[in-house]
Amino acid sequence: MQIAKLGYAGFNTPNVEAMLAYYTNVIGFTLVERGGDGSAYLRSVLDHHTLALYPAQENGLRHIGFQIGAGQTLKEAAEQLREQGITVETQSDAQPGIAEQLQFKDPSDTTIHLYETMEQVHDNFPEAGIVPEKLGHVALAVHDVQKSADFYQNVLGFRVSDWIEDFFVFMRCGPDHHTMNFLRTKYRKMHHIAFQLKDWAHVQRACDHLYKHNIPLVWGPGRHGVGHNIFTYHHDPDGQTVELFTELDIMLNEDLGYFEPRPWHGEFPQKPKVWKADLYATNHWGAMPPPEILE
Ligand SMILES: [Fe+2]
Repeated sequence: MQIAKLGYAGFNTPNVEAMLAYYTNVIGFTLVERGGDGSAYLRSVLDHHTLALYPAQENGLRHIGFQIGAGQTLKEAAEQLREQGITVETQSDAQPGIAEQLQFKDPSDTTIHLYETMEQVHDNFPEAGIVPEKLGHVALAVHDVQKSADFYQNVLGFRVSDWIEDFFVFMRCGPDHHTMNFLRTKYRKMHHIAFQLKDWAHVQRACDHLYKHNIPLVWGPGRHGVGHNIFTYHHDPDGQTVELFTELDIMLNEDLGYFEPRPWHGEFPQKPKVWKADLYATNHWGAMPPPEILE
């Protein structure tokens, strides 16, 4: 299996209008369409949607969608999944912008979609709001990290980029250091969702923009050791943690097996490894995460 990219996330929310206002006015996504059930589909650029909001009693991650690589069909992907004992449903017109998708559960009971193509909108980046470049990664808090790592590696073709001891794994499906993270906790939910910004200046503008909307940062700016991205974290109206990051490590050549050298790396070459859970792995610039991030 080859995953081309993380396409979208869907959230359940009891506050669709507040979430919609935040993800358009603050994050800078564009409302594409509303569903008859009150759902809302938002795009960043190019793809029909990057985020979908669904009215529900309780908030939380509803699903994640991955686009599969061009070298395979959805039918082949479904066969591969079934061969590995996974229950897969093929769905037609289950959401706008995607004609056909597969739906199944990962080991942490998170609903995953696979699709071949999504409708595209051929328009430039909008100009109001933060306007991230893309949905970068989703981090899931799970009970069994190794089980999730094995599934994403063996079933979905992800590679392990780094571990922090045996409780936090960072996995990539393309050049980006991580597209999915799994963190061992007592609870099971989305830990955070992360959007990629262009550069450090974009992070600065984003922080000023958050301030204008009375949204405080809960951690950062800082630079992670693992992945080396500059990060900031804040909460969306549902209290979910949103990371805005830039300068994430990239592995351009899988055969070489190291991340492109950067001045802030501690090792040359910087290869996938197991890190100790200390400040060096967590934040080169010095501050450990507050309880809102750890819990
Ligand atoms: Fe992250």
